[in-house]
Amino acid sequence: SRIVVAVDGPSGSGKSSVSRGVAAKLGLRYLDTGAQYRAVTYWMLQNKVDLADPAAIAVDAAVPAIVSGTDPGAPAITVDGEDVAAAIREADVTGAVSAVAAVPAVRARLIALQREIIGAGGIVVEGRDIAAVVAPDAAAKVFLTASEDARARRRNTENGGGSGTVAATREALTRRDTVDNRTNALAAAPGAIVVDATELTLEQVIDKVAGIVIH
Ligand code: ADP
Ligand code: CDP
Repeated sequence: SRIVVAVDGPSGSGKSSVSRGVAAKLGLRYLDTGAQYRAVTYWMLQNKVDLADPAAIAVDAAVPAIVSGTDPGAPAITVDGEDVAAAIREADVTGAVSAVAAVPAVRARLIALQREIIGAGGIVVEGRDIAAVVAPDAAAKVFLTASEDARARRRNTENGGGSGTVAATREALTRRDTVDNRTNALAAAPGAIVVDATELTLEQVIDKVAGIVIH
């Protein structure tokens, strides 16, 4: 299948788990564009780029070599050959990524890379701007959402509750959404179907999205 499925939505709405599940179910590839923004951010932190200075970010935007795997069963990402799949989930990256993703030179570079990977299609792509910018011709567009409470609770559980309270997770999530919303409207793009996952299990959401793709 050459179909392109775009899955956009705010942090913790279930984009990664749902996109992987749908891709596995339908035999499609999978691309996590958020992981790419995280990978660039990881490299900038390692290389002491001043993340308060958008011009400094822009200068180095194209320097790190980012390679993304597209197997939904084994998401993989490397920066300059280093496996960073775990490191990009750390709090320092999460706290800095929105500022890096707001820099146009970073976006231009990663969007070009994403379009190369999407190629002829057969892929589920998740992010913030997939339906609106990266793949406006996608055959299926889903805007995945869930209440702030549900998103904070799920993210906190995922972190083992070890990094703090649900309230603290919720605050960090809201702060990131605010910055992300300035870069890309956190809203359904034209033609996107809104799926609210607040009261649904992961399996139910995967079935619903797979149904939208096939219909
Ligand atoms: P995103 O990619 O949008 O940030 P994730 O896919 O990482 O979201 O999901 C965040 C957390 O919520 C994960 O731990 C995931 O297992 C869990 N999750 C996702 N969807 C559901 C759901 N419908 N019900 C319960 N937990 C969910
Ligand atoms: O998993 P979560 O939703 O928390 O975040 P992510 O999808 O890994 O994305 C990390 C960050 O990358 C977001 O907070 C955005 O700042 C940025 N991003 C973006 O700007 N555009 C995308 N297409 C995907 C992510």
